[in-house]
Amino acid sequence: MGLKKVITWVILALGCSTFIKILLMLDLNKRVYNHVPGPCRIVEGIENGSEDIEFVPELGVAFITSGVISMVEERRASVKGGIFLYDFARRDFKAIRLPIDGDFDQTFFTPHGISAFVSKKRITLYVINHPPGGHTVEVFTFNKEKRSLTFVKTIFDPLFTCPNDLAVVGADRFFITNYCYFVNKWLNQLELALQLNLGSVVYYDGKKATTVESWSLTPNGISVHPNLTYLYIASPLGEVIKVYKLAKDMSIEKHTEVSLLSSPDNMFIDRKNGDIWVGCHPVGYEVIRHVDDPDNIRSSSQVLKIRMQEGHKSWVITEPYANDGATISGSSIAVYHEQQMLIGTMFHKLLQCDVINPDIV
Ligand SMILES: *[C@@H]1O[C@H](CO)[C@@H](O)[C@H](O)[C@H]1NC(C)=O
Ligand SMILES: *[C@@H]1O[C@H](CO)[C@@H](O)[C@H](O)[C@H]1NC(C)=O
Repeated sequence: MGLKKVITWVILALGCSTFIKILLMLDLNKRVYNHVPGPCRIVEGIENGSEDIEFVPELGVAFITSGVISMVEERRASVKGGIFLYDFARRDFKAIRLPIDGDFDQTFFTPHGISAFVSKKRITLYVINHPPGGHTVEVFTFNKEKRSLTFVKTIFDPLFTCPNDLAVVGADRFFITNYCYFVNKWLNQLELALQLNLGSVVYYDGKKATTVESWSLTPNGISVHPNLTYLYIASPLGEVIKVYKLAKDMSIEKHTEVSLLSSPDNMFIDRKNGDIWVGCHPVGYEVIRHVDDPDNIRSSSQVLKIRMQEGHKSWVITEPYANDGATISGSSIAVYHEQQMLIGTMFHKLLQCDVINPDIV
């Protein structure tokens, strides 16, 4: 075969595989049917997103980030970002906005991933922020009596290029995911459509960040096992959760991959049994349109629960919740505590569900 012919065939083959990849990503023939684990209700107080939720077992409360704008810059002006508190014990189904004291500019607060560090009952929150023209990690402490936050400091590093979520493993030490490479809206869409592996995972050691994984396909939610033995990274376009073994020196080694055939966003790890609760986007084309126009286009919601078996070698996946988008749109996280589940969404409301029979969800 001549060189020209070979090149033609290679280009044709690449074109076909890209086309098929995009078709599969769109999930055009997929449909979600509604079910609940018990009575559910919309939590009062949150309308414009509850993208990530950090549950703090020591207090029985959850911290919720609200106000992610994605690439829809116009939302910056209308949506007021903030951190909300939900108290499971009260059962009043209300989330309250936490006032922030200290020298912190809240005008352009667009909180994204959140992770907490608890030491001697002192709760420190690490929150990804996207102020205009940059990406930072904001650090706050929580005042339990006043129900407020105090701003501590901003952490910045040149390797925080497209940060999405973080997992704290010690004071000022965390893993952070860079979801993409291109932050320009159109290049970003091209990068995602072609499923280029241009994301990365970095580790910040209190002074500076180092890359621990490059060429990663859309690393999004990141969580650590409560015993700091495993690290989990959700890849929405890969439709998998990657599992890494975490060493004492915080180095990671690929262990396995949990295939979901649904796009995982953020995760919560139950400290009691290691169960992984995941907020998912089950239908690709719906979530793509929803991200572009959150106020007018709905996207299905799905919560999956993964129970790891002995040595993280096998697992059982169940689906505690599914919704076609009419009740809540674009589920991005679920947390579980004492027969209650909270489901957060990228741009929409927050849902609370009672879990009537936890043994079978
Ligand atoms: C949500 O955003 C809209 C503007 O888009 C605003 O009018 C409304 O007050 C916001 N709701 C809350 C609870 O912040
Ligand atoms: C964490 O480690 C302890 C001690 O090895 C063990 O008893 C516990 O079950 C582990 N927790 C989880 C969630 O696996």
